[in-house]
Amino acid sequence: MKDNYLEDFYSFLHFQSISTDDQYANQLIACAEWVVEKLERIGLKTDLVRTKGHPIVWGRNAHDPKKRTVLIYGHYDVQPPDPLELWDSPPFEPVLKNGYIFARGATDNKGQVLAHILGVEEALQKNRELPVNLHFVIEGEEEIGSPSLATFLNENRDALGSNIAIVSDSEMLGRGVATLAYGLRGLAALELKLTGPRIDLHSGLFGGVVANPITALAQLLATLHDREGHISVPGFYDDVAPIEEWEREAWKNLPINPDQQMLRESGARVLFGETGFTTLERLWARPTAELNGISGGYEGKGSKTVIPATAMAKLTFRLVPNQKPDAVLSTVQEHLRKHLPAGIDLEMEPGHTGAWYLTDPHSPSGKAAQRALREVFGGEVALIRGGGSIPIVSAFRDVLGVETLLLGLGLPDCRMHSPNENFPLENLDAGIRLNQILMRELA
Ligand code: BES
Ligand code: MN
Repeated sequence: MKDNYLEDFYSFLHFQSISTDDQYANQLIACAEWVVEKLERIGLKTDLVRTKGHPIVWGRNAHDPKKRTVLIYGHYDVQPPDPLELWDSPPFEPVLKNGYIFARGATDNKGQVLAHILGVEEALQKNRELPVNLHFVIEGEEEIGSPSLATFLNENRDALGSNIAIVSDSEMLGRGVATLAYGLRGLAALELKLTGPRIDLHSGLFGGVVANPITALAQLLATLHDREGHISVPGFYDDVAPIEEWEREAWKNLPINPDQQMLRESGARVLFGETGFTTLERLWARPTAELNGISGGYEGKGSKTVIPATAMAKLTFRLVPNQKPDAVLSTVQEHLRKHLPAGIDLEMEPGHTGAWYLTDPHSPSGKAAQRALREVFGGEVALIRGGGSIPIVSAFRDVLGVETLLLGLGLPDCRMHSPNENFPLENLDAGIRLNQILMRELA
């Protein structure tokens, strides 16, 4: 690893580019400007594209109509670091420990994006030109559902025309295991607000006489699942594609023990999920309904005898082929309205949605990626799906007509979105080499 690579990594990680909180808007601009400067310095013509939200960085080399065109996508925004007290070191002051860099965004997605940038830098130093026409599209709104990027793709559809998109924003199956992901789950968000009495009331004066919004919320949320982890919303599974036999077989033979790995990384005592499916099937090819936040009433110290006026909950659904995010949200809302206990009003606000993705890992580009992965990591390439979501990937297909290959470099213990997120320098190094071999193979 060259010294200046580490300096670049530290500088990149220093920006508090938290996209969900407008208080950090200037940090996002500063971070985007840093990426622009970096891309310019290595010899790419680069624009900082203003949007209604956070800016997009678009860099490219001089294109030659005889060469194939590759779009590399990544994001410079990060999740909030909270809860801060659970970090061993400050999230935006990267530290190197035992070969791992610890910082918010180390894996998701700054380390993986930087590996591509440094790979291109190295290739340009060695050969003065790249074997492919390149687009870097690095956005600042991935963690909030990419609200501006589709517009950017539409407005620049012709200029962005590419043969393949490459995204390194997911996980490897294990350390040193060459991994190609050919699918992602989708996402749909929904917020619930329940209202009962006009104001918070004394529970001695009103308890037993009016409905309690928290009780109603608990009853309502309890209708979402049965005790075996199935989602109980009628019609929820209607469009879910069955898992194909070849996938079931292939996933059984992957060189990891998924249950052990999941227990270790989660710290949960036991695994739980929909019965009738293996851990990897549940993670990669089955939908979920998750409660992400809940509040209402008195949450301070001690107790308070109160009937709260309101209660709220934040829900998200992970979706799989061939579910449609908007249809799922309507189905769920209908179900919740039907089960709403008496005496309570329910307001529902659908949030952002993102489509699932599935592509063919055996396409010519997929095979090229597999050759590159084998050359860097050795061994067989694990073909997997990802449980997470990168909503813009389906827009690459719909708007640009381009398929995406997911060459993630995160490790199962990278702690993305959690305290002590980290990325091994070993994978930064591997990513730098992978980028160059990949460009050669895709060419
Ligand atoms: N890098 C993740 C997505 C990911 C993680 C894909 C692991 C495959 C395996 C990405 O940055 C992310 O966190 N996306 C969000 C979606 C967004 C709309 C909030 C997610 O999956 O929750
Ligand atoms: Mn993320």
